[in-house]
Amino acid sequence: MSRTLAEGPRPSGHLRETVTGDVPRSVEELIVVLDFGAQYSQLIARRVRELRVYSLILPFDTPLDELLALRPKGIILSGGPASVYDPGAPRCDPGLFAAGVPTLGICYGMQLMAHDLGGRTGPSARREYGRTRLFVDEAEGAGLFGGLERRLLCWMSHGDSVLRLPPGFETLAHSDHSAHAAVADPARRLYGLQFHPEVSHTPWGTDVLRNFLYEVCGCAGSWSMTSFVEQAVGEIRTQIGDGRAICALSGGVDSAAAAGLAFRAIGDRLTCVFVDHGLLRRGEAEQVVAVFRDHFGATLVHVDARRRFLARLREVVDPEQKRNLIGNEFITVFAEESTRLGRPEVLVQGTLYPDVIESGTRTAARIKTHHNVGGLPAVMPFRLVEPLRTLFKDEVRLVARSLGLPEEMVWRHPFPGPGLAIRVLGEVTEERLEILRHADAIVTEEIRRSGLGRELWQAFAVLLPVHTVGVAGDARTYGNVVAVRAVTSNDGMTADWARLPSDLLETISNRITGEVAGVGRVVYDISSKPPATIEWE
Ligand code: XMP
Repeated sequence: MSRTLAEGPRPSGHLRETVTGDVPRSVEELIVVLDFGAQYSQLIARRVRELRVYSLILPFDTPLDELLALRPKGIILSGGPASVYDPGAPRCDPGLFAAGVPTLGICYGMQLMAHDLGGRTGPSARREYGRTRLFVDEAEGAGLFGGLERRLLCWMSHGDSVLRLPPGFETLAHSDHSAHAAVADPARRLYGLQFHPEVSHTPWGTDVLRNFLYEVCGCAGSWSMTSFVEQAVGEIRTQIGDGRAICALSGGVDSAAAAGLAFRAIGDRLTCVFVDHGLLRRGEAEQVVAVFRDHFGATLVHVDARRRFLARLREVVDPEQKRNLIGNEFITVFAEESTRLGRPEVLVQGTLYPDVIESGTRTAARIKTHHNVGGLPAVMPFRLVEPLRTLFKDEVRLVARSLGLPEEMVWRHPFPGPGLAIRVLGEVTEERLEILRHADAIVTEEIRRSGLGRELWQAFAVLLPVHTVGVAGDARTYGNVVAVRAVTSNDGMTADWARLPSDLLETISNRITGEVAGVGRVVYDISSKPPATIEWE
């Protein structure tokens, strides 16, 4: 995900400070997802938004008064890796269960609810992982399972279970090895699910979430991207007042959508800066300029910094050194431009919600220094306006579409800030960049032709720093190797290599070796993340 160049993990208190900032003012209905460290908290929040209710992820220890001050229509307690009887297990304020707010606990969240209300939880006699049969016991009709079959397949991942129900609770469903796989105290509007309704392996899980939101919490479902665009434009106008703003464009959908909203809000008081560092794909710079010209009409400063970046990269082969040099050079160029423009007070950035969540909670080791044109360091002398900081990537695509951006930009795969410099392994020269651009254009074109593009998180070419022997027209060749990488992923944090059809791979390989001068071999990367990363450097 995009992290800024200059910052490391922030303390987890950071999220707390941004709580109210993360609820757009026009939101009428809010669901809070309390995060107990689940892999799936973001997915829960996304599912809720797909059901047209705005959701916000907060840390499990958010004080109850702060939580209730947000007037949530409902609260969802996420799963998490702990056991409720572990010393130091994460807990929310138990007063939450008496606050009268409809609450749904998922996995750990359900066990915590049962434990705190006088039930008993403990290790299951048999753990349940993966696809599991579920038998609905709830009376037919309305309720959490209203409209669903009585026998279902769900996705489980738990070692602990609710062994005895708390007073007032009843069982809504059981599985082969969990007597209480779904529970409820309808009078207090408290619900618990041992399985994961948010994952795609529980295909009807969305129906259960819908029932919770609409039947239990009484939501009407007023959240939509159209309302978001109108309200975001109004908010940007208020935030910028009669000042001027600057926005760095990368060619990606995030910065384009942020710029589009800001342009609607303040018109020609916005100046966009596009720094062409020469590490873009074939035709990309021209496309950014054309899209901008045709769709915005705001002032665009196109900085041709290709020579500068290439000079900085001369003889550099270390991936981290490349990343740092590019990030620093980008900041220098951007600062020079903003000085030339008389230093506008406001910087508009395309920061997304996953970046906000991650920078607030991430304590993991740094694997790569990410450079992101949307993430200039906080030390720059600007007031920040981040109109997308409450949205997920798929929601940003909807915003971009409603702003009228062209489909190829709306659906563009993520592209790293340091660009092709981290896909030309070894030294970056114009000649090697050109070989990669050509090979990459073939990959992109063939993927587009195959119609598989939207199923993939990314698909691209990498130029390896080795030469191999080949044969062409009876003569020995000693050419470059291109690796093709295509992955599926939900968020870029984990990824699986894509099982592309072999005839597609064959076409890509034949075209690259036939059309790109100097390439004698093509390999397909079949590593997942982890242990590999998506980019090679
Ligand atoms: P990795 O290679 O870490 O990449 O598995 C995960 C996702 O992040 C993208 N990526 C970047 N994005 N600035 C960015 O904005 C960067 O420096 C950067 N490095 C990697 C990568 O393309 C993938 O989608």
